[in-house]
Amino acid sequence: MKRDFLSITDFTTDEVLETLHLAIEMKEKTKRGEHQNILNGGVGALIFHKQSLRTRCSFEVGFQQLGGSSVYITNQEIELGKRESIHDVAKVMSRYFSVICIRTFSHSDVEELAHHAEVPVVNMLTDLLHPCQLMADMQTILEKRGHFDNLKVTYLGDGNNMTNSWLRTAQRIPMHLSIGTSPETLPDAAILKETKACGISEVSIHHDAQAAVKDADVIYTDVWASMGAKDQIDTKVAQLQKFQVNMDVVNAAKKDVIVMHCLPAERGREITADVMDLPNTVVFDEAENRLHAQKAVLVKLIKG
Ligand code: CP
Ligand code: NVA
Repeated sequence: MKRDFLSITDFTTDEVLETLHLAIEMKEKTKRGEHQNILNGGVGALIFHKQSLRTRCSFEVGFQQLGGSSVYITNQEIELGKRESIHDVAKVMSRYFSVICIRTFSHSDVEELAHHAEVPVVNMLTDLLHPCQLMADMQTILEKRGHFDNLKVTYLGDGNNMTNSWLRTAQRIPMHLSIGTSPETLPDAAILKETKACGISEVSIHHDAQAAVKDADVIYTDVWASMGAKDQIDTKVAQLQKFQVNMDVVNAAKKDVIVMHCLPAERGREITADVMDLPNTVVFDEAENRLHAQKAVLVKLIKG
């Protein structure tokens, strides 16, 4: 049966760990110049309804490095659900492509596409979740720290698709996930509830950045206004100013804290320029690992 990757919880804990170790192995092989013809000419569909630098480039390069290729498609061509039903788009694309990757607004549209597609569907970001980013982030933590034991991650900022993705990751990898945000910008209530009920990780919500970040191994942040909600930036700035990642916050965490951001970043807003440029800030390693983590996810979906 075909499998999809719409949320990190589509994989078991063992599968998440296997995929992360495969990603590290694939990165080493790529750096040694070893060719990996795993897709054998297979083609991936890359449907984008939002902007992208990292996701588009890393998927396109990734498909080529695996011996395949990809086709970039915007909503101007297919107008998903308008020109043609999601059902029919899924059926047609399944006849051409080895895998369908999609970045769009509505998570339920992606679930519907996956339900009808006969090939794996990969979520390249919805308003709800961004699981490929989390695979790259967990790979980065594994490379930098060597293990996930006694991991405390502090997420500061908007309760958005990245926060929800951290919560879903905490359903697979045990950690203390501490979220520092305002009462108005909490993550998805259902995902928060299911993560607490899952019981694998400790989840705490703070409305004070210093309290949230105490003893953190990782500080993570993201833009305060996401794609599709950029017009809310003034309101978000007022709600989230206290949760900026700056040197005061970094100094309140563990001495060897790793600072992470999925990028794109707005220097001076959710993260200060001095923090962006610290030696322990690993944002470009995260960006690099998108390539290898996604290749590993594709291998897992296509080869099992
Ligand atoms: N982090 C990330 O997904 O970046 P892009 O929006 O540039 O793809
Ligand atoms: N929360 C951001 C993530 C970008 C990678 C957005 O959805 O725009």
